[in-house]
Amino acid sequence: MRDISISFGGIHAVEKASVNLWPGEVVALLGHNGAGKSTLIKILSGAYKRDSGEIFVRGEPARIDNPRDAKAAGIETIYQTLALADNVDAAANLFLGREILTPFGTLDDAAMEAEARKVMGRLNPNFRRFKEPVKALSGGQRQSVAIARAILFDAKILIMDEPTAALGPQETRQVGDLVKELKREGIGIFLISHDIHDVFDLADRVIVMKNGQVVGEALTSDVTKDEVLGMIILGKCPPGAKPGSGAARA
Ligand SMILES: Nc1ncnc2c1ncn2[C@@H]1O[C@H](COP(=O)(O)OP(=O)(O)O)[C@@H](O)[C@H]1O
Ligand SMILES: [Mg+2]
Repeated sequence: MRDISISFGGIHAVEKASVNLWPGEVVALLGHNGAGKSTLIKILSGAYKRDSGEIFVRGEPARIDNPRDAKAAGIETIYQTLALADNVDAAANLFLGREILTPFGTLDDAAMEAEARKVMGRLNPNFRRFKEPVKALSGGQRQSVAIARAILFDAKILIMDEPTAALGPQETRQVGDLVKELKREGIGIFLISHDIHDVFDLADRVIVMKNGQVVGEALTSDVTKDEVLGMIILGKCPPGAKPGSGAARA
């Protein structure tokens, strides 16, 4: 995403922000509440239309004006709320709105369950609760259903907005394992968080936003957590980081 801007009324929610993501890379998008993280990724997922700036997918200019465009470009988003249908099972959730039909036009439940078992087996081999409504599942299991739904249709870019905000430590670890598996499969992942401790160990790279602008970016191997906290709080870039247009001047 290059030089992306959007305003609401007079407020510059995102201003000239540039971010990138490689296949199989986990990028943590960090910043305080209100920094513009969700707004920026909602532009990538087609939920908001940018005022200016460009989006490239696989190096080609991409037209992303609505969520359908984003999905067609292989971009899937998992929002904090997960947006699951609580009263139906995992397979029904995976195919919600994209159901497999028999030649007679009826729902092909067997085919959908077989596909569900395949993709869930890849992500969470211990998962057995295919016959239960997802409201009966644990938080971590619900996350894996939401992630399975996202990657079922060949997503190459996955956006997770505050994925562990509502989870306990064990479930947070489970989400970490899911992220590592997706990474092995070559999927690029934006992990959005206001809390560096949630994402630092999983991320290959961090990008920090403040007041709608990009403070800077760094490989996690080149900076310490304290230095990244300095980027988040003070907008100050350490020597190991590449400053963005929102970096504080020394
Ligand atoms: N739909 C909207 N209408 C008006 N203001 C918005 C809207 N969405 C976001 N904003 C504003 O944009 C700024 C960035 O918000 P957001 O992207 O949600 O931050 P973050 O996800 O980093 O916490 C905030 O000032 C927020 O109030
Ligand atoms: Mg947010």
